[in-house]
Amino acid sequence: MKVCMIGTGYVGLVSGTCFAEIGHEVICVDNDTSKIDILKKGGIPIYEPGLDELVKKNVQAGRLSFTSDTGEGVDKSQFVFIAVGTPPKDNGEPDLSSIEQVAIEIGAAMRDYKIIIEKSTVPVQTGQWVRMVVERFNKHGSEFDVASNPEFLREGSAINDFLFPDRIVLGVESKRAEEKLLELYRPIEAPKIVTDIASAELIKHASNSFLSTKISFMNALSVICEKSGADVTKVAEGMGLDKRIGRDFLNAGAGFGGFCFPKDLKAFIGISAKLGYDFRLLKEVENINDEQMQRVVKKVEELLWNLRDKKIGVLGLAFKPNTDDMRFAPSITIINRLIDEGATIKAYDPVSMKRAKKIMPNITYCENAYDVAADVDAIILVTEWSEFGKMDLQKVKKAMRQPVFVDGRNVFEPEKMKKLGFIYSGIGR
Ligand code: UDX
Repeated sequence: MKVCMIGTGYVGLVSGTCFAEIGHEVICVDNDTSKIDILKKGGIPIYEPGLDELVKKNVQAGRLSFTSDTGEGVDKSQFVFIAVGTPPKDNGEPDLSSIEQVAIEIGAAMRDYKIIIEKSTVPVQTGQWVRMVVERFNKHGSEFDVASNPEFLREGSAINDFLFPDRIVLGVESKRAEEKLLELYRPIEAPKIVTDIASAELIKHASNSFLSTKISFMNALSVICEKSGADVTKVAEGMGLDKRIGRDFLNAGAGFGGFCFPKDLKAFIGISAKLGYDFRLLKEVENINDEQMQRVVKKVEELLWNLRDKKIGVLGLAFKPNTDDMRFAPSITIINRLIDEGATIKAYDPVSMKRAKKIMPNITYCENAYDVAADVDAIILVTEWSEFGKMDLQKVKKAMRQPVFVDGRNVFEPEKMKKLGFIYSGIGR
């Protein structure tokens, strides 16, 4: 089947490539010609494990191509996915102008029946706007359907999440679109939930908000664990074995970040307010997350007394392991606060330093974790890259000026760290 994917960001490029991988003919479109140039030359504008090879394989097989001409993409395809960015505006609402622009271009270009599918995370009821805009610019009077097919891809495991998902959500307005979309996804074995468009849009908001709530719940619980002498990792284990709760997303830590959770949460709070409901629960989820990042700084302060002129080492900058994504990374909030308090920062991340340098030019970037440890008064582990778990801790301790270690992701066992001579503090234990 012929697929056009408009937008070659994380979602668009991964989805387009995976549609090609399951046998469809895919044309990826982006109006950023520099991105298309990179892709045409065999490069990848983002970091996602395994994507490089998958793009190459499918380009070579003739199933995947790239263009900056939306009209060409639309013309060649029956399914037109909209996967362009919806960045937050200053007031936290998503900026939907790219979606509108794409809808105009699709309307003007289409000459036969198309299914236009929202893949970007959009406020509930966006489907209606897309329909209206496409209709207004529908030069040739072509038939079309609008659908919503939210993505649940996690950075770092996006390919696997696409090919082996827990579920596929299809929000449709006609039997014809339903049948075609089911056919498109037939090679993927997963429960397929067919709903109306508004419900599909809400499934995405509700899922991300609920997962953020799980994390904030555990972060709040980590405070209680610290005050009562309990261990939040054990509490998570005990709770998680209850099938109704599940163990996933129960890790207390230095707060959640990334381009989805913080942004989607804010957007959903805004959407709810517009619909006349003050979603207080989610506001608190946001507050707890902000507090959690501040708590990490507080921990260092409590162990070092004063932060002025202290050298602090930060391990991990990306918002989570296996990605170079720095958007809304807790490391930024934590580092900025430390700098405000007068500390100087040395940091290392296996892949995100190039991006980090653009956001935080005023810190020292190191070659590895041991360079970070050299002569620092404290280390904060912010992102749990697997290589940090394998560090030679004796060597780390020896290199430090003071052996203060704040483990923002509970990578290490407190007892072991204390035995090694660290002044150690984890989260909620
Ligand atoms: C998320 C959703 O999982 C995905 O379904 C959606 O489509 C996009 O947003 P992603 O942002 O890639 O994916 O990362 P995810 O793995 O969900 O982690 C988000 C943040 O939560 C990270 O900062 C991570 O460190 C944090 N987190 C996650 C915790 O603090 N504790 C946990 O138990 C799990």
